[in-house]
Amino acid sequence: MKRNFSENPFLLSLTFFLVSIFFLSVAASVSAHGEKKPMKKGILLVAFGTSVPEAQKVFVNIEKSVKAAYPGIPIRWAYTSSIIRKKLAKEGQHLDSPEVALAKMMEEEFTHVAVQSLHTIAGEEFHDLRRSAHAFADMAGGFQRILVGYPLLGTEEDLNRVVDAIMKNIPKERKEEEALVLMGHGTPHPSNAFYAAMMFHFQQKDPNIFIGTVEGSPGIDDIMAMLVKKKIKKAYLLPFLSVAGDHAINDMAGNEEDSWKSILTKAGIHCVPVLKGTAEYKEIVDIWVDHIAGPLGHFK
Ligand code: CO
Repeated sequence: MKRNFSENPFLLSLTFFLVSIFFLSVAASVSAHGEKKPMKKGILLVAFGTSVPEAQKVFVNIEKSVKAAYPGIPIRWAYTSSIIRKKLAKEGQHLDSPEVALAKMMEEEFTHVAVQSLHTIAGEEFHDLRRSAHAFADMAGGFQRILVGYPLLGTEEDLNRVVDAIMKNIPKERKEEEALVLMGHGTPHPSNAFYAAMMFHFQQKDPNIFIGTVEGSPGIDDIMAMLVKKKIKKAYLLPFLSVAGDHAINDMAGNEEDSWKSILTKAGIHCVPVLKGTAEYKEIVDIWVDHIAGPLGHFK
């Protein structure tokens, strides 16, 4: 009686045996060529980026803090914004995307990479970054370990630390009845909810601190309504953005009709813009720096 191949137990096990031998020998040859590389740790700092030279200095300070906290570990940089990268390239300054930076680190034979997001919330850019990092872990010749540290606001503890950091840096001359209005970026990503959560935390400590966003919710109209309802006459405007770049200079403090300063001034609120990004606060930089310890702690 004729049996077909799949019904023959002997042929099946023989095939399994031969296939196993084949893969084992392939595996052996790979390890014979790809001798285990010595551990080489690296840190990749990833920011949205900025084309404002003054704001770029902020990144230099962050790098100094990272170096001091994790001596001897090489640091590389990447900007997630392709618009900023293209703008800088035209001016002769070449910044890498996270993907290009990681490819270069692979070429430099780093084995363990801690990618640290210098973003504020875990929005689209952060999640894209994680996807790319994971892809590099799967790649042939890729890193043995690659982990991504939380952005500024990752945990409840971060929320409290950020609130304390900002409150410590409120302009001294601000009086209790005057408002502090922070400008966040905002995103269609669900993590946009962090801004309202932050405002809740602030208002537990100081009911005249508000956070609005340029591109998400709450918007400036929501904030204006809150200020008017509380009959606030004066407000300090501060970026809740890592660098006081384009959004802070133009959308917050600019003279155009739709800037926050113009909108609030029209509503009878005297505005005092303060062009200082959150990355200029030592206490904020410390949070990002501390987050790198997460990935590095897994590299053994
Ligand atoms: Co923007």
